Amino acid sequence: MNRAPLTLDLKGIHYAFGNQTVLHHLDLRVEGGTTVALLGPSGCGKSTLLKLLAGLLQPQQGEIHFGTRLIASLRSALPPEQRDIGMVFQDYALWPHMTVAQNVGFPLLMRRLPTAERLTKTMIALERVGLASLALRRPADLSGGQQQRVALARAIIAEPGILLFDEPLSNLDRDLRESLSREMSGLLRQLNTTAVYVTHDQGEAEVLADRIVHLSQGSVTAIQAVRPLSGEIA
Ligand SMILES: Nc1ncnc2c1ncn2[C@@H]1O[C@H](COP(=O)(O)OP(=O)(O)OP(=O)(O)O)[C@@H](O)[C@H]1O
Ligand SMILES: [Mg+2]
Repeated sequence: MNRAPLTLDLKGIHYAFGNQTVLHHLDLRVEGGTTVALLGPSGCGKSTLLKLLAGLLQPQQGEIHFGTRLIASLRSALPPEQRDIGMVFQDYALWPHMTVAQNVGFPLLMRRLPTAERLTKTMIALERVGLASLALRRPADLSGGQQQRVALARAIIAEPGILLFDEPLSNLDRDLRESLSREMSGLLRQLNTTAVYVTHDQGEAEVLADRIVHLSQGSVTAIQAVRPLSGEIA
């Protein structure tokens, strides 16, 4: 990424489904270029928080800022496609009828980039995740780990300011989870992007994140520093 990475700020975020409050006036800051892992038990509100960041839900109280830009509040919310985010889900969410290269290049097709530029960037993204040789395969002919690499390449191809991950490795076996989490950690540092990574695996969080934010019943219960941020003394 060439631009300065965006800092992500959530201030007083409140969200309820009907009368069930899921997020309680939550404050969270993710410094530009760092990765925060959201760790917590099933049902504590991790995916709800990611959906608010992605623009799939709108906060009922509070504000979300990306850098100096107000992204969402009760009064206004930018649609997902205007938020400069890339997202990777647990279930890969690839289009089965498209090749690997078509899946990865799709965000650039939507942005109407010239074909030659789209193809070049597609190959760069595929090389970053080690899949250049499989560009013409279809998702059904890939392993789970390879499919998740395709989803990762698709998330980073447009060089978004913010990357969101919702348990991307939880469908994979333990060995693959460990190796892929280390690779993803390297890639996140190389891209110098700001990322929020949801998991309920403490080990995975420690490999990937600079900070681990522990959530319980929709509130932050602890913030754990895994690595010193730049400018801090180790
Ligand atoms: N669309 C919805 N309608 C009603 N309740 C919902 C909806 N989506 C989520 N919830 C509820 O909100 C709470 C938080 O859900 P969320 O998906 O954010 O949890 P999570 O921390 O991601 O859990 P998991 O680790 O199992 O993915 C849960 O009690 C869930 O049942
Ligand atoms: Mg979830």
